[in-house]
Parts: sequence; C-alpha cells; structure tokens
Amino acid sequence: MKAIIPVAGVGTRLRPHTFSQPKVLLNVAGKPIIGHIMDKLIAAGIDEAIVIVGYLGNMVEEWLLTHYTIKFTFVYQSDLLGLAHAIWMCKPNIIDNEPLFIILGDTIFDADLDSVLKSPFSTLGVKKVDDPRRFGVAITDGNKILKLVEKPDTPVSNLAIVGLYFLPQSKSLFATIDHLIDNKIKTKGEYQLTDALQLMIEGGEKFTTFPVSGWYDCGKPDTLLSTNKILLQNNTTTKDYPSCIIVDPVFIADNAIIKNAIIGPNATIGEDSVITDAIIRDSIIGSEAKVIHIMLSHSIVGSNASITGNPHEISVGDYSEIQMG
Ligand code: UTP
Repeated sequence: MKAIIPVAGVGTRLRPHTFSQPKVLLNVAGKPIIGHIMDKLIAAGIDEAIVIVGYLGNMVEEWLLTHYTIKFTFVYQSDLLGLAHAIWMCKPNIIDNEPLFIILGDTIFDADLDSVLKSPFSTLGVKKVDDPRRFGVAITDGNKILKLVEKPDTPVSNLAIVGLYFLPQSKSLFATIDHLIDNKIKTKGEYQLTDALQLMIEGGEKFTTFPVSGWYDCGKPDTLLSTNKILLQNNTTTKDYPSCIIVDPVFIADNAIIKNAIIGPNATIGEDSVITDAIIRDSIIGSEAKVIHIMLSHSIVGSNASITGNPHEISVGDYSEIQMG
C-alpha cells in the first residue's frame, strides 16, 4: 500500500536548525524524525511512499534513498499552498481509486496501523487532549465523525486530529480537493486538508476515528526536546566511556568521542561529535558538533556547530557565596 508523506514545509518554528537542514532530518533519539516514521510505516506493510518535498527537498530525497529500499516517488511542491494542495499534487501517481495512508512528515506516532489499514471506511487518527483549542478536532457520535472543527473556541470535542489519515478509496478525496482548488476555497490562505475532509463528510462519506496512543510532535524546539526524552525512554548504553559518567537514557552515536564528561539523562549525541569536559542533559547534539568545557541542559546544538566554554579559575574565601554566569 502507498503512503503519502508531505514534507515540503520550511519549518520556520525550528529555525535556526532548519536553515541548513529540513525539519524531518533533525535527529531525535538517534535518528531523523522521518526515520522514526518510515520504520513504523514499513513495519505496518507500507511498500511505497510518495514524498512531497519542497524546501531542501534534495536532502530528504537523498537520505531516504540511502536508508530505505522501498519504492519512492518524489513530488516537488514549489509553492506551499497548503496540505490539501500538497496531496493534490500526487494525483498523477495514484492509480484509480487505490487506498492511501497519509501521514504528516513531522508526526512520530504509536498506533495499531495493522487494523487501521484494513478499515473499510475512511478513518482519521485522533488523540484525546486536555485543551483542544490549539487543534483541529473531530466531533463524533461515538462511532462516525459528524464534523471536523479547526481550533474550537468552545470545547466541542477533545479528540484532536493528529496527522494520520487512511482512505480505503482515494478518488473522492482528489475530487474534493479539485473542487477546493477550482473554486479557490482557502482557509488562512491555504488549501486545507481539513476543509476537504469536512466537505466529504458533508457529502455523506462515512469517516471514523482510530486511537493514536503516542503522538510526538517535533515542530518546535521544546516539543522536539520532549519527544527526544520520550523516545529515549528505554535506551541504555552498553559501551564503556572511560573517565565519563553516562546517566541513561541516552543515545550516543558509536563514533562520537566523549571524554571527561557526564552525559544524560535524555541526551542524544550525534555522529562524529566531540564532547570533552562537559555535562550534557535533556539535549540534542548534532553530528560533527564540538562541545567543550560547558554544561548544557534543554539545548539543541546543530551539526558542525562548536560550543566552547571556559573553565573558571577562582580563589574563594571562607563563607563566600558565588553564582557563576
Ligand atoms: P506545518 O505547517 O506544521 O510544517 O505542516 P512546516 O511548514 O514545515 O513548519 P512551520 O509551521 O513553518 O514551523 C505540517 C506538515 O505538512 C507539510 C509540512 O512539510 C509538514 O511536514 N506541508 C505543509 C507540505 O508539505 N506542504 C504544504 O503546503 C504545507
């Protein structure tokens, strides 16, 4: 079965990291965001992916082709006109009414895809959230979706739509997006997938929901770091690093050089990085980065970046109180 993965976006909320790398290639818990997604899709039997690329798309394309052997088709979306438009661009690559699984490229998830991909009805992944005002939500009658509401002011439902969509028959989705585009129906300046799905529901198509037990957003620095922490949960290091203390869970790339350091908990240390005389916790350190003489917490250090602190030399008298900056 085919999956459509839109990853054309610029990732503005993750700047400066996305100036030189596409969001989906940012490392979280030891592999790029899109690597986590691909591993789950392939485990569920997806054998073909249509990836909508745009901003720094050649890097995504190269990484996927180097790391996976399933069939890929890359579709270039040069104008970011919205998710519905991105999906619409895949139309020439879709055969007749074939089933489709759509997943946003920045959404790492845990869900029972085996049963989802057998659903006879279109079905959307949802997760219960405490504050639905920040999300698109699905109002259901307990079984089928009655309505989709974008960022509701009043709490009409706490089932947030998380970016996983299965359509056993894709024809009506494309026909509906055709209608949005022909009539220039945009919301907040973009062709929205939610608008297309809502029109399909209004047209009488049955949509259900499926539960997504884990939904790990990677769209902002703080969510990237909390996702890193969650995904590292069961990681343990077996390698011995003389003169270092490793506080699991951590991910340390095999060829990283670590000396006189305390690493962890919740630290991802990228390939070929050099960490000496440093303390790093709750952080992501990119590949070939250098971190020397410094303590980092809740930090993201990009690939090839270098951070060097100064060891302090002081002579402190009895009863002194000093706070170092
Ligand atoms: P987002 O709007 O959350 O991601 O779109 P973004 O644009 O990359 O990030 P910000 O908002 O600038 O920080 C969700 C997903 O849909 C894709 C994005 O690449 C992302 O994976 N998308 C969105 C497209 O491929 N094309 C579009 O026109 C819009």
